[in-house]
Amino acid sequence: MDIILLGPPGAGKGTQAERLVADHGMVQISTGDMLREARRSESDLGRQVAAVMDSGALVSDQIVSDLIDHKLSTISAGQGVIFDGYPRTLAQAQSLEIILAAHGRSLSFVVELAVDENALVERITGRFTCAKCSTPYHDRFKRPKVEGICDVCGSHEFVRRSDDNEATVRTRMAEYRAKTAPILPYYEARRLVRRVDGMALVDAVAAAIDAVLGGRA
Ligand code: AP5
Repeated sequence: MDIILLGPPGAGKGTQAERLVADHGMVQISTGDMLREARRSESDLGRQVAAVMDSGALVSDQIVSDLIDHKLSTISAGQGVIFDGYPRTLAQAQSLEIILAAHGRSLSFVVELAVDENALVERITGRFTCAKCSTPYHDRFKRPKVEGICDVCGSHEFVRRSDDNEATVRTRMAEYRAKTAPILPYYEARRLVRRVDGMALVDAVAAAIDAVLGGRA
């Protein structure tokens, strides 16, 4: 089963994708993670996209669709995929349809995480992760049990994403409204969209997504 998690920055796409990987053995494909990895490795691609990402704008459709096409060739047919942060434009949605068909795959659902954008700025600007094991934390909602020490690996180093400041988050939200939200009608016409309350507690959102995957919603 291949699904898209659709929602604005901070809607909980990454949180829910990781949970689906752990509970259902699906594969998470996050274009944001792939682009950040390219930046860390200081590849040509990473250098090409760094400034765009830091501004909060979208990188080119061709770059992300090529990443998706390449990634799908590494995933076996029996494994379900979660698209996290892709597609983000109508052109990407159209490309995805072609790419999936070329890989003998098709979409089962587009899960829309419905959220209150005003709450998302706090969600995003407060988040940070362990620099060693990537365990996620939040300034308000989930601090390490012992201040300054990762609960999981004991590291003292933490990192924040360079695009998680308020000004960039506002641009990312505007990009979502202008370019990504308009792809919903494309998927509604294909009867693939299932709406889930993304403002509920993480476990409740997870249960609602499981109900969609199990054909109960
Ligand atoms: P990307 O990495 O995809 O970022 P994003 O879409 O802005 O999404 P986030 O990762 O910020 O949020 P999320 O929805 O995953 O929320 P999360 O689970 O982390 O993209 C970054 C950039 O890369 C883009 O701006 C663009 O430049 C480029 N890019 C990427 N893909 C692209 C594409 N396809 N085309 C073009 N450019 C592309 O949760 C956020 C916080 O909230 C966490 O602290 C979490 O713990 C907390 N939280 C989650 N769920 C809940 C809940 N239910 N209740 C309370 N707190 C919650």
